[in-house]
Amino acid sequence: MRDRYTDKIIPSVTSLLGSIQDVGRDPRRGGYSRPVFSTAELDLRGWFATEAERRGLPVETDRNGILWAWWGQPQEGALVTGSHLDSVPGGGAFDGPLGVASALAAVDILRSRGVEPRRSLAIAVFPEEEGSRFGVACLGSRLLTGEIDPDKARNLRDADGTTFAEAARANGLDPELLGRDGQALARIGDFVELHVEQGRGLGDGGPAVAVGGSVLGHGRWRMSITGQGNHAGTTAMADRADPMVAAAQIILAVQQAASGVEGARATVGRIEPVPGGTNVIASRVDLWLDARHPQDAAALDLVDTIHGKAQKIAAFEGCTVSLSRESWTGTTDFDAELRRSLELSLPGAPVLPTGAGHDAGILAGHVPAGMLFVRNPTGISHSPEEYVEEADADAGAAVLADVLQDLL
Ligand code: GLV
Ligand code: MN
Ligand code: MN
Repeated sequence: MRDRYTDKIIPSVTSLLGSIQDVGRDPRRGGYSRPVFSTAELDLRGWFATEAERRGLPVETDRNGILWAWWGQPQEGALVTGSHLDSVPGGGAFDGPLGVASALAAVDILRSRGVEPRRSLAIAVFPEEEGSRFGVACLGSRLLTGEIDPDKARNLRDADGTTFAEAARANGLDPELLGRDGQALARIGDFVELHVEQGRGLGDGGPAVAVGGSVLGHGRWRMSITGQGNHAGTTAMADRADPMVAAAQIILAVQQAASGVEGARATVGRIEPVPGGTNVIASRVDLWLDARHPQDAAALDLVDTIHGKAQKIAAFEGCTVSLSRESWTGTTDFDAELRRSLELSLPGAPVLPTGAGHDAGILAGHVPAGMLFVRNPTGISHSPEEYVEEADADAGAAVLADVLQDLL
């Protein structure tokens, strides 16, 4: 791409992303599966460190596994940008990596303009933003800010039973040191995360970049439905206490309950029968409920309603149900002053709320944080069809450079 002020040629965001296009491809769904601390995610961390060091930005890993690449000395009140490199199972190429690649490109642009930062600039890469391995989204930023009890984080388990503490230790972290890091947090004077837009908020022909307004309140709940495991051939239909049958009805009840609440979104995207055999009536079914609403009380009421319906359905099927909350973050507005600065750097850009969770949303409770969204013409995300045009990705990096230059 050519910088619009200096006309100098800078490597495009798409070319940066091109160098990781084969990392962590998902053979089943297509797209990418890059869970935290997997070979794929570690390769991406390695790629980031190499790209940062090529630009003369030394990289350090903090005690919560967050990577920091520094332009200037690590110092309090620095300007920080960045995003994440982990993905959902079978996710797209842009959710996370677009923000990281754009941050690297923005440094190239600022350098080409001869910008001398008046305060240090860091690019941060947060681990387990999606919560696709250990269940709690934005785990790195929650640990950094103290938004999760470190004991709870240490004891989170992945599908194989590995705890987060074990995975952290295997990757060079001391699990005892996980948790709120006041020193690292104080280094964030302002945080700006660039991210692919995850809906169709930026139409064709208009601006390619929007300013983030707020993050929808969202949480995750685990529901366990317990029945009587039994033989598929010898158990008469009338004699069953089948938690799969209860689960099927509960999933429909989730859809019906959420459809009746204006602005609500509720999803069951993951279900695990135990033990999961074709000729076995399951003993238990675990399913995960993701519920979101702009008003916190409405989201929590919706989950209560779903729980009540689930109890009735389970009892009718001779089963029991338990519900436990795995995470919750209320609706969060981004810092008003930082948002105004972003709007000033981007005249005419729309301000969009987002239904997706982000590390910037967690950080917003502690430091001034804001977001930029880059057009996604499909409006699809958490899917291989997520897409950003090359020109829009470069426009995003240029806008990020402008914003950082103004804030520096
Ligand atoms: C993360 O992308 C989420 O919104 O769950
Ligand atoms: Mn993301
Ligand atoms: Mn995501």
